[in-house]
Amino acid sequence: MRRIKLPVHVAFIMDGNGRWAKRRFRPRAFGHKMGVQNMTKICTHAFRLGVRIVTVYALSAENLMRPKEELDELFDLFRSYFGKKRERLTELEVKINVIGDITVLPEDIQEDILRVTEETANYSEGLMNICINYGARQEIVRAVNEAVSHGRFVDEASFKNFLSTSGIPDPDLIIRTGGEIRLSNFLLYQAAYSELYFSNKMWPEFSKRDLEKAIENYSARDRRFGNVRGNDS
Ligand code: FPP
Repeated sequence: MRRIKLPVHVAFIMDGNGRWAKRRFRPRAFGHKMGVQNMTKICTHAFRLGVRIVTVYALSAENLMRPKEELDELFDLFRSYFGKKRERLTELEVKINVIGDITVLPEDIQEDILRVTEETANYSEGLMNICINYGARQEIVRAVNEAVSHGRFVDEASFKNFLSTSGIPDPDLIIRTGGEIRLSNFLLYQAAYSELYFSNKMWPEFSKRDLEKAIENYSARDRRFGNVRGNDS
C-alpha cells in the first residue's frame, strides 16, 4: 500500500452474510460461517497493516430477535470461535475485549469468552473489541442510568467513562459491507466524528485489498472535527 495516514481504530459492520449465501443457493448459516472466517482474515490484515484497535459488530441486540434456528447456528459459531478453535483468535496476540450483554448467551459460551479475555488480557500488540448483543441506544441509556445512580452530573469527558468503550479511543473509520448505508445502532455516541465507508461487497467477499482501499480512501479525507483546518493533516 502506498504511503498513507493509518486509522488507529477501525470498526466493522459485517453485513451481507445471508445474501452472500443465498446467491450461492446455500443456507444462511453457511454465510455466517464464511463471515467468521473472513472476520479473522480481515482483522489479522488490519493489525498487520498497523491498525491498533479493531472493533467488530458480531451480533446486535436486535439480531437476537432472529429465528431460534439462526441464533442457534450463530451460537454454534461463537462456541467454536471462542472455544475449540480459539487459537485463531489468541494467536493474533491482541487483547480481546467483548462488549455487550453476554448474559443472554448459553453459559458455556460465556465461560469460553471469559477464558479468552483472561488469556489475552496481557497482550499489548493491539485490541480487538467484539460486540455481542450490543446496541448503542441500550449502551447510552445504561450509561446514563449508571451516572444517575452515582448521583453524578456528567460532561462529555466523564460520560465516556460510563460507556462500554471507556478508555478506548473513538473509531476513526467505520466500514460497513453489504450495500446498506446506515449505522444500525452501532457505536452511535463514539461515531460522532468517525469517517464512514460503505462497500457494496457482501462481508464474506470483502477482501484484504478492499480493506486497503477503504484505508486509502480514509487517508485522503480531510478530518476537521468541526474546525476549519484538519487536525491531522
Ligand atoms: C449480518 O449479516 C451479520 C450478522 C447478523 C452476524 C455477523 C457475524 C459474524 C460474521 C461473525 C460472528 C462472530 C463471531 C465472533 C463468531 P446478515 O445475516 O444480516 O446478512 P444479510 O443482510 O445478507 O441477511
